[in-house]
Amino acid sequence: HGTSRINKLGHLEIGGCDTVDLAQKYGTPLYVMDETLIRDRMRQFVCAFQNTGLRFRVAYASKAFSTMAMCRIVDEEGLMLDVVSQGEIFTALSAGFPAERIYFHGNNKTPQEIEFALDAEIYLFVVDNFDELMLLQAIAKEKQKRARVILRITPGVEAHTHQYIQTGKEDSKFGFGLESGQALKGVELALTCSQLDFMGFHCHIGSQIFETNAFSATIVKMSQLIKTSYERWGVLTQIFNTGGGFGIRYIDEDTPKSPQDYVQVIASTVRTYLSDLPLIPEIWVEPGRYIVGEAGTTLYTIGTVKEVPGIRKYIAVDGGMSDNLRPALYQAKYEALIANRATEPATEMVTIAGKACEEGDILIWDIPLPGVQSGDIMAVNCTGAYNYSMASNYNRVQKPAVVFVKEGTAEIVVKRETLQDIISHDHIPERLIPKKE
Ligand code: LLP
Repeated sequence: HGTSRINKLGHLEIGGCDTVDLAQKYGTPLYVMDETLIRDRMRQFVCAFQNTGLRFRVAYASKAFSTMAMCRIVDEEGLMLDVVSQGEIFTALSAGFPAERIYFHGNNKTPQEIEFALDAEIYLFVVDNFDELMLLQAIAKEKQKRARVILRITPGVEAHTHQYIQTGKEDSKFGFGLESGQALKGVELALTCSQLDFMGFHCHIGSQIFETNAFSATIVKMSQLIKTSYERWGVLTQIFNTGGGFGIRYIDEDTPKSPQDYVQVIASTVRTYLSDLPLIPEIWVEPGRYIVGEAGTTLYTIGTVKEVPGIRKYIAVDGGMSDNLRPALYQAKYEALIANRATEPATEMVTIAGKACEEGDILIWDIPLPGVQSGDIMAVNCTGAYNYSMASNYNRVQKPAVVFVKEGTAEIVVKRETLQDIISHDHIPERLIPKKE
């Protein structure tokens, strides 16, 4: 992946940095992010769109991995930023990310979040449902502000992915249903809202999608909505956001397409179905996983090794579901290697266990590795998306540090949590404080 290679010492190197040195210097578990690969992947999407001749915007879905340094990169690369909470907006603004390139998703934006976003003058709101439409209109009116809106539509397309990350079905907590007619009612209502500027539509059918035909099927359905809105109310769709969800290669069997392939299918479907309108909408995409997933590697130190005679060998690492929830939550599969002996051939089948007090905390079942010893450094690949961002303090574990590596330099972008951080929000009521005798 990216700038990863094996160096002369037989160690895994990323961004010109020896991962064994990184583990030594910053401790483990450690998230290592390949900045060059992150930037390459952003440019791949931009480039793919430039070749289509359509007006477009590429956004980064910050839920995949949001930190201030990451927001700097998104800003430098000129992408839009998709946020889903006040916390993500705050992170971006604190990093100096321009508000006019931020837009706000979510199925239950609180009044406080809406106020915050209106005051910050973000670019637009992706409105998820009728209640939110009315709430946004009311708050904007009170503040005498205007807001651009696009409506999130559930197009009723089922992408082939894990059911927890399938979001395009009609029976979904997200969006205005297309098939139930809610979508058109949403447009009608939005057009009556004095403070809201209706700009168009959004849809997102799921995540870690490989096939391109799920995207074309969605666009075909959405085109009907775009045309009907024009015919009924003369509304021109300015923005058509086709979501994210572009798959990556976690393991060999995964068969993602390239951004060129996805964008080409999106663009040609848009041209086929929307060319007879007076205006072809600006096409937006909002990948998260594709931008950061393969750029991330987690380094762990191997601790205890337990053999269940004749059945299995468990190798325990100093992290697990607290820094990578995906195997426990989605049965997600990962590949790994021993970073300090990266050229040695595999000699045994082992299972990589986390250290959480939870039987389900297994990072990888049955992976062939060279004879593993306590103290070895294990590198788990493709942990850049939805790992740090879904990390927890379960078992009062400190969240790991994150470093960006690039051209031989490593820099901290998130400090490792301290024990003090773990108790920093705790409070002992007066009556429970031990009295000194
Ligand atoms: N846009 C919307 C409206 C979304 O809901 C999402 C992801 C994205 C864009 C970005 O999708 P991506 O390009 O990253 O696939 N925690 C799960 C993934 C949840 C995705 C939620 N929405 C996982 O670890 O697989």
